[in-house]
Order: sequence, then C-alpha cells, then structure tokens
Amino acid sequence: MNKANLKILITGGAGFIGSHVVRRFVLKYPNYRVYNLDNLTYAGNLENLKDIENKPNYIFIKGNIVDASFVFEIFEKHQFDSVIHLAAESHVDRSISDPLVFVRTNVIGTMNLLNAAKELWNDDFKNKKFYHISTDEVYGSLDEIGLFTEKTSYNPNSPYSASKASSDHFVRAYGETYGLPYVITNCSNNYGPNHFPEKLIPLFINNIINKQPLPVYGDGNYTRDWLFVEDHAIAIDLVFHKGKNQETYNIGGFNEWKNIDLVKLLCKLMDQKLNRKEGESEQLITNVKDRPGHDLRYAIDANKINKELGWEPSVTFEEGLSKTVDWYLNNKEWLDNVTSGSYKEYYKKQYL
Ligand code: NAD
Ligand code: DAU
Repeated sequence: MNKANLKILITGGAGFIGSHVVRRFVLKYPNYRVYNLDNLTYAGNLENLKDIENKPNYIFIKGNIVDASFVFEIFEKHQFDSVIHLAAESHVDRSISDPLVFVRTNVIGTMNLLNAAKELWNDDFKNKKFYHISTDEVYGSLDEIGLFTEKTSYNPNSPYSASKASSDHFVRAYGETYGLPYVITNCSNNYGPNHFPEKLIPLFINNIINKQPLPVYGDGNYTRDWLFVEDHAIAIDLVFHKGKNQETYNIGGFNEWKNIDLVKLLCKLMDQKLNRKEGESEQLITNVKDRPGHDLRYAIDANKINKELGWEPSVTFEEGLSKTVDWYLNNKEWLDNVTSGSYKEYYKKQYL
C-alpha cells in the first residue's frame, strides 16, 4: 500500500472499539484522512470522540450501511482507498430477541460496503484494502481444553455470531471471486473505557456503583478470553499496515477467566476503590436464568499475529481492569447519559 495520504473509511467509529481505533489513527497518522461512518444507534456515541472531533484529518459522516445507495454515494464522493469495517450490531442477548436487525446490519451492511468497494475501485485494487473486523464467536464453543486457531472451522451458535460468520464468508468470497484485497481479524472479548453497559464488565461496574444486583447467567462457569480495548486497537493498526493480503489473524488476550471468578475480582477491586467493606459487593451476585445457546468457552490462539507481526497485549488484566474501573468512576456523566432513556427499557426487558 502507498501509505502517504490514505483516505480511510472506518465504520462504527462512534462505538466502543471503533472509537479507540479512530482516535489512534487520527492522532498517529496526521497525514491520513479518517472518515468515521456511523449511524449512531443506541451503541454509538459521539461523546466517545470529543477529544479529537476538531482534528483537521477527522471527518464524521452520519449514515446507515444498510442503505446501499448512500454507501455508494459516499464512496464516490470521498474516494476512499481503504476500509476498516467495525459497524455492527454486537450484543448476543439482543440478537436472541431481535435476530433480523443483525442480518440487516451485519450481513447486508457488509455486502453494501463490499459492493461499493468493488464497483468504485473499478476492479483496480492496487493500493486498496478492505479490513473486516470479526469475532472469535464465529468458531462456536470450546470444551474445557483447546484453543481457536485461524484454521478452526466456523460453527456459530447465536444469531449474532451467525451474522458475523456470514459477513466473514462474503468478505473472503469477494477476495477469491473478484480479487478484492482483504484482511480479517477475529478477536476475543474486549473490555475498557467507553464500553456500553449492556455487556458483562461495564454492566456490572455500573450495578456495583449503584449497589444493584449482579445478574450472573446460569452457574457462571462460562469462560471468556479478555483483551484490553487499546491493545485491540494496536493490533488493528498493525494488521492494517503489515498484515498479509487475504489472510485472517486471531487476536486474544492470553487471558481466560470464568465469569464468576472475574465478577468476584471486579467486586474486590471496586470495594477497594469505593472504600467499601471487603466482600460487600460480592453480596450483590445473583444467579439468573441462563442465556439460551450460551457458549461454554472461548479461548484464542494468538500465536500467528504474535509471530508474524510481533503483537502481544501490553497490559495485564489487573492493570487493564483497574484502568477501566477508574475510567467509569471518573466519567459518571457518560455513564448516566447512556443509562438513561432507552437503556432503562432494555434493562427491564432483559433482567426484571
Ligand atoms: P458497538 O456495539 O459498541 O458499536 C457498534 C457501532 O456501529 C456503533 O457506533 C453503532 O452506532 C454503529 N452501527 C451499528 N449499526 C450501524 C449501521 N447500520 N450503520 C452504521 N453504523 C452502525 O460494537 P463494538 O463492541 O465496538 O464492536 C465493534 C466491532 O468489533 C463489531 O463488528 C464486533 O462484531 C467486533 N468485535 C467486538 C468485540 C467485543 O468484545 N466488543 C470482540 C470482537 C469483535
Ligand atoms: O468474544 C467476542 C464477543 O464478546 C464479541 O464478538 C461480542 O460483540 C461481545 O459482546 C462479546 O460477547 P459475549 O457474549 O461473550 O459478551 P457479554 O459481555 O455479553 O457476556 C460475557 C459473558 O458474561 C457471557 O458468558 C455471558 C455472561 N453474562 C453477560 C451479561 C451481559 C452474564 O453472566 N450476565 C450478564 O448480564
């Protein structure tokens, strides 16, 4: 790629991971133009990017990737030479209650971006790149042992992971069929600042602050591999610039936790930070009805990206979790804003 003056379309840049990726690219590459396309759904929040919104190389475009003619229009107008595609419906529980919206955004939305890239790059793919951000959930569930590698077969179990798997297949197919230069990364569970409080860690932080019940699904013996969001953004930067064309890379934290152990660690940490009695927040743990089709365990083998590109997580889980809790305690207004309005309806439907 000629990297001198790239015009990069980043989709979903107002969301959790997207905002960290946008910030990194805007600040680190002042000669790039970074276009953030986001429809500002319940999960998108321009407050996440307040600190960089006036940078001269940052452009925000509000719009829906499901609208094909709009996607074509912006490709034509701005002549992007690369895409980093993060926009998605991302919450498993919402995919169980409303699967179709996941098909629209995650499958049709990705198709629209692929078609626009193919047509408007006019099959001349020199110096072009389509980078699709995916998830480890496409591989399905592991038993107590084993790791997901790039060669593990896809076996998605939730409507969310099925829609992400489908979009991954289309990206790969456009590479094989039309020669579209692509790269895909499949990452494990992220955590960190700006995480919408419908996901385990930020939801539990918010509930601990407010002394509300901590709804652990089933027996809590489900395992996830956690990665600090800024380490994901670093990996995305590296893969974007150095990843091999038509390759996929797994990204993970080498950091497996059973939910129940993670929740107890979080309670302990927050009791210290909030000057509460030791063991006080643990009293809030409540076992609730399990998630249907709940995947037992995800764990990533991230050796390929480590060996080929030299990436590894830069913070330990204890450091990352501590930074994350501090961020939420120092950004009470952000948390109050995103937990008002439609969040209350969602919470009631999901938990009460
Ligand atoms: P998120 O839900 O926080 O953000 C998604 C963003 O996409 C929001 O800003 C939203 O407004 C935008 N968006 C949604 N539908 C849109 C549409 N139709 N048109 C334009 N914009 C739209 O998600 P996230 O957790 O930051 O995840 C980002 C990407 O990374 C997703 O593709 C997700 O599958 C993937 N991923 C997430 C994790 C994780 O742990 N969060 C792990 C691996 C991969
Ligand atoms: O693995 C990557 C995926 O991680 C991403 O692709 C998804 O976008 C992201 O949402 C995340 O999916 P999970 O389903 O693993 O994350 P979530 O935070 O929803 O749940 C983590 C674990 O905690 C899971 O085993 C379910 C459990 N859980 C979750 C919630 C919200 C609870 O026990 N109680 C809860 O209230």
